[in-house]
Amino acid sequence: MAALRIAVFASGQGTNFQAIADSVREGKLDVTVELLVCDKPSAPVVERAAKAGVDAFVFNPKDYPSREAYEELIVQELRKRQVDLVVLAGYMRILTPVIVESYFGKMINIHPSLLPAFPGMHAIRQAVEYGVKTTGVTVHYVDGGLDSGPIIAQTSVEIMEDDTEQSLTPRIQAAEKELLPSVIRLIAAGAVTINGRKVSIR
Ligand code: GAR
Repeated sequence: MAALRIAVFASGQGTNFQAIADSVREGKLDVTVELLVCDKPSAPVVERAAKAGVDAFVFNPKDYPSREAYEELIVQELRKRQVDLVVLAGYMRILTPVIVESYFGKMINIHPSLLPAFPGMHAIRQAVEYGVKTTGVTVHYVDGGLDSGPIIAQTSVEIMEDDTEQSLTPRIQAAEKELLPSVIRLIAAGAVTINGRKVSIR
């Protein structure tokens, strides 16, 4: 069977992009990373893609009349490369139906909380400030809402009494680094199915 072809969307540091690229390089994940999509030309993830030998579609949203206009181009690029799975890994933009409807069931997102708690920006900070004792990481399919699609897998991370956003972040990142490649592996193996809101893994 041909390897699953994935595209990773990211806006910033790219530690999740790196975890995927490393897993592929080490032979732990049998997919091909066809493309990085990045909306911030100066983001460190762009450099990581270059080092990993992954092509990048980098754009500045200000150069386009609308979100739909650049998303049309992204969809063209994904189709040209026959991408099977889109992985949102720290892509900090709301998507329009142009991408969401083209890739429903073929697009996943990683989020640094136990959804549905703390969706949106600064999820790690939100959890610390709220005072929950356990937070974590979620990988879910993407629908039209904010971090609201069917949940595939979650890992919990304990919050210590003296934790701050800064002290908790590395433990969240460590959990992300395990969870995201493992979910991609399951999808590549054809082990994941969606039934409404419920996702089953066999
Ligand atoms: C990750 O923690 C990811 O879960 C989060 O952004 C970070 C990106 O880090 N995503 C969201 O908050 C999406 N709502 P990275 O660029 O180092 O992979």
